[in-house]
Amino acid sequence: MGLLEGKSVIVTGGTAGIGRACAIAMAREGAKLVVTGRSADRAEKIKPLLESGQAVYVQQDTTREDEWAKVVDTAVKRHGRIDVLVNNAGAIAIKPLDKITPEDFTRMLDANLHSVFCGMKAVWPHLVKAGGGAIINNSALMAERTLGIGMAYAPAKAAQQGLSRTAAIEGAPAGIRVNTILPGLIWSDGWIRMAGDKPEETKTNLGKSIPLGRVGEPAEVAEVVVFLASDEAKFITGTEIPIDGGKVLA
Ligand SMILES: NC(=O)c1ccc[n+]([C@@H]2O[C@H](COP(=O)([O-])OP(=O)(O)OC[C@H]3O[C@@H](n4cnc5c(N)ncnc54)[C@H](O)[C@@H]3O)[C@@H](O)[C@H]2O)c1
Repeated sequence: MGLLEGKSVIVTGGTAGIGRACAIAMAREGAKLVVTGRSADRAEKIKPLLESGQAVYVQQDTTREDEWAKVVDTAVKRHGRIDVLVNNAGAIAIKPLDKITPEDFTRMLDANLHSVFCGMKAVWPHLVKAGGGAIINNSALMAERTLGIGMAYAPAKAAQQGLSRTAAIEGAPAGIRVNTILPGLIWSDGWIRMAGDKPEETKTNLGKSIPLGRVGEPAEVAEVVVFLASDEAKFITGTEIPIDGGKVLA
């Protein structure tokens, strides 16, 4: 029996990178999934999962509170309940203070903070009704340990941690566990896009600054998310786990 057998799970931004790896690993462990993404054509990226019948795709912009209703409705109609939310979707903008605009700043807050608030608020009554559940919020190592870049990204992710800590205390009496992951450099679709025409060389070079000597893979983040979502982690809430090859210390 899988670690998440029969659990009803929502993964946002689950058609690429860390989110897709989470959806695949959670399906392997027996979860029934609602996977979200920004446009209809993104469903193609998780075709095998959809064809297996274990997952359904919902088009959603996580920053829009009104779009959360259809995500939650789909999960409840299809799976009868909600047990787990993985607030994975986020966006990054790396610009120094003299280049970043107020619009960039607001966009980072929307993508990395407001979206997580909307997601937690939308699933909360369903988790209470289910007698508890798990929320895993995807922050970033940069929230914890500044790299001197990400003028709007880092503070948005840091504020997300404040939100998660508060929700962990508020949810505890209802059996709702809220945990945060802090990925370091993870070789996701987003990074591959940014690496341009020499992805392997870029990957190797970036890995040199990491104590374990390489960048991480989305599947390595997904295994931690599976654990936090599972009953194996039933006494763990309010924690923040770096998944970074030791970078937090370096
Ligand atoms: N990859 C890393 O090195 C790294 C490090 C730290 C934190 N993170 C965090 O992990 C999460 C996933 O990042 P990734 O690297 O896998 O990115 P990615 O670009 O590979 O995938 C992100 C997915 O989320 C979707 N998405 C983005 N905004 C959305 C929105 N508003 N609504 C719905 N879907 C949306 C994208 O379309 C994409 O499919 C993000 O929150 C990111 O900040 C990533």
